[in-house]
Amino acid sequence: KLIYILNGPNLNLLGKRQPEIYGTDTLDDVLANCSAVAEEFGLSCKLLQSNFEGEIVEQIHTAREEAAGIIINPAAYSHTSVAILDALNTFEGPVLEVHISNIHQRESFRHHSYVTQRAEGAIMGFGVEGYALAMRRMGSLLG
Ligand code: DQA
Repeated sequence: KLIYILNGPNLNLLGKRQPEIYGTDTLDDVLANCSAVAEEFGLSCKLLQSNFEGEIVEQIHTAREEAAGIIINPAAYSHTSVAILDALNTFEGPVLEVHISNIHQRESFRHHSYVTQRAEGAIMGFGVEGYALAMRRMGSLLG
């Protein structure tokens, strides 16, 4: 079973972007960590990143055909995107939400995420380790 790991805007710069908040690991490191956990459960994974809302919507549409589960860090679109929520609502498998930082400890405009309404669970404030923990949960749900 394939798990999609979707990443929203600015996360292509992970490792270089505000390292005091997001750390120094890159998306390549995230993929390596998640792949190792996925393998333990007989799962595989594919990591995608986009800075464009509509492209993320289309990645979710492709997930409908290809993926058994979605791990998503919608980044800033968490707080604004009804379109991403609607797309996730067309997906039948489990959805887990990840935020590297603790969004509730930050500006009030980050406190609400549309995606949480659809997600089976959410992890935040665990740094990039949150992705691998979410993959472990996928393993419990689907492995
Ligand atoms: C983020 C938190 C969002 O508020 C922010 O816009 C991001 C990253 C996180 O992983 O902590 O880009 O989703």
